[in-house]
Amino acid sequence: MAASQPMTVPRFRERKGGEKIAMVTAYDYVTAALVDEAGIDAILVGDSLAMVVQGHHTTLPVTLDEMVYHAEMVARAVHRALVVVDLPFPTYFANPQSAIDAAARVLKETRCQAVKLEGGAEQAPTIEALTRAGIPVMGHVGLRPQSVHQMGGYRVQRDRERLEEDARAAEQAGAFSVVLECVPRDAAAHITEVLSIPTIGIGAGPDCDGQVLVLHDLIGLTREKPPRFVKAYANVSDTIRQAVQTYCDEVRSSAFPDDRRCYE
Ligand code: KIV
Repeated sequence: MAASQPMTVPRFRERKGGEKIAMVTAYDYVTAALVDEAGIDAILVGDSLAMVVQGHHTTLPVTLDEMVYHAEMVARAVHRALVVVDLPFPTYFANPQSAIDAAARVLKETRCQAVKLEGGAEQAPTIEALTRAGIPVMGHVGLRPQSVHQMGGYRVQRDRERLEEDARAAEQAGAFSVVLECVPRDAAAHITEVLSIPTIGIGAGPDCDGQVLVLHDLIGLTREKPPRFVKAYANVSDTIRQAVQTYCDEVRSSAFPDDRRCYE
């Protein structure tokens, strides 16, 4: 298990090129408490909750109010990990001020420490404005799920020049870290080498400074088959199904509740 010192943005940055950073999503109090206890370095309250928790087909429908609602539950549970919250579509697109308004709400109302937004070069002025306002920003380049329609689906992004340009732009604008999603491993390795901030990979190979996964994928609690880059470390879907089937059987046969679970 990792050390108990609370993770901060500067400590996160200092892990560049050192011990790899382990990050995972959480959307509620109990899972956030469990992953924090397990020693995770950082938690992402991802807009993936639109798909994973709300059952939408994309991340686009989740609102800022809903992100704040989930982030607040997560922050209440966490003692050590850095908590980063996704700015949802399209709260930061209109202009940098709209991003500051959305991010300020997240920091003021949830006690989380940083925000993440999708985009590199085209979001540089926004990242710069947020950073100048004292709001730590994690960039996100490669596959950008909020642009799924423009990208034509959830595909590996292979334009190496654009990937590097976006990652460098995020760094220069002041991002403290950048997520690389669904990019070839050699491109991720190269970007990791040329950047001075930590890269966090998801479907980007082993050479990034850290990795992030959607918790539900990692524990096998999904409805759809997860992408190829996911490793499921448990099968919680089966555990839930089996437990509830047994419960149904025991209720129907009157085996539950037994004597030990009754009050006299
Ligand atoms: O929303 C999310 O879970 C994410 C990760 C896939 C990086 O952005």
